[in-house]
Amino acid sequence: MKAQAQRAIAECRLIATMSEEQGCTTRRFLTPPMHLVHAHLSARMAALGMKVNVDAAGNLRGRWQPAGVRGKRMILGSHIDTVPNAGAFDGVLGVVLALVWVEIAREIELPQPIEVIAFSEEEGVRYGVPFLGSRAVAGCFDQTMLASLDVDGVHMDDAIRGFGLDPAKIGESALDDDVWGFVEIHIEQGPALEAENLPLAVVEGIVGQSRLGLQFTGQANHAGTTPMHLRHDALAAAAEWIVQVESTACKTEGLVATVGKISVEPNAGNVIPACAHVSLDVRHAQDAIRQSAVRELLTMAAIIAKRRGIAFQPSVQLDQPSVPMDAQLTALLAEAVAAASFPLKTIPSGAGHDAMVMATKVPTGMLFLRSPGGISHHPDETVLEADVEAALHVGREFLLLRRTAQLR
Ligand code: GLV
Ligand code: MN
Ligand code: MN
Repeated sequence: MKAQAQRAIAECRLIATMSEEQGCTTRRFLTPPMHLVHAHLSARMAALGMKVNVDAAGNLRGRWQPAGVRGKRMILGSHIDTVPNAGAFDGVLGVVLALVWVEIAREIELPQPIEVIAFSEEEGVRYGVPFLGSRAVAGCFDQTMLASLDVDGVHMDDAIRGFGLDPAKIGESALDDDVWGFVEIHIEQGPALEAENLPLAVVEGIVGQSRLGLQFTGQANHAGTTPMHLRHDALAAAAEWIVQVESTACKTEGLVATVGKISVEPNAGNVIPACAHVSLDVRHAQDAIRQSAVRELLTMAAIIAKRRGIAFQPSVQLDQPSVPMDAQLTALLAEAVAAASFPLKTIPSGAGHDAMVMATKVPTGMLFLRSPGGISHHPDETVLEADVEAALHVGREFLLLRRTAQLR
């Protein structure tokens, strides 16, 4: 399986060149390079004898079901959108390895069908709301999101039409009942496996996450003539609050909170900022702790804004509960890891995944590969060839178990 692992890594690196920007990987929901990724993956799927289609949410879907193969299908896949200036493996590796698992299914003449889904959107970069692709597949796509605007003023429904799809048909992307379960293969994106020198882990659950947008609105004025005590500086208010976000998270075991995005108006060096838009991302394994942290941070923002004579407006974009993986499917993955002679480790995921949405509909499990250096959402993100090979050995054992395994 060494050659297959090498080819999979090369394929991820090739897909990373399909980007909105020269010299780095940025591929947001349904932007033009998504067509290139679809063309590449469709050709791979067709060569494996899969039936390929793109649903109205932009998910590329391939069905492997040769004559005589029947029963409930296993779904494999991950996302093909990226964060700005991304690495080559977050999401894409799960799709590319899913196709190698299909090759293995062919070799072992698996009697049950497989569907591979390259989800169109998971990161939430273009419209602020993540999991657009998997929400459509899980049948929980909120139609009101179609009216959202991206930074260039493009409505989501126009982006979908511009890609050649019909947003009115998103409901048709939803899964039927003929599904056995969903498995997502993904890089860990953290340091836990490397710290223990382990190639792989089975995921026990995915932590919950909140995403919000906050707007601080003060008063623009002249930077040279307005005395300090007469200012209503929106950016200074946001900055004071951001430092509190960090210290609040540091005080709470297991809590992570991030302000990763900020924009300022009018954004000129000699004008006091009138408006600061900032993002907030908060995660914890326990939903009650996460939600209480969000409330506390919003109260702090309101207090800071009031003291500075500034208006403050929050908007909640995501309140995603933590999700356990399916116990039976997780046990099967663990059995496959042991059968492939790798040490068994189960870990929680701090990153969000399509698996958390799919888990609301079908039995769902995840397999993690070590992330060298614990680095992700960064161009240095990588994988070890031996770990990719390990994931293929586990895949073979898992597909052998699939022959007889019933879930639920
Ligand atoms: C997805 O990568 C996330 O933000 O967890
Ligand atoms: Mn990601
Ligand atoms: Mn991902």
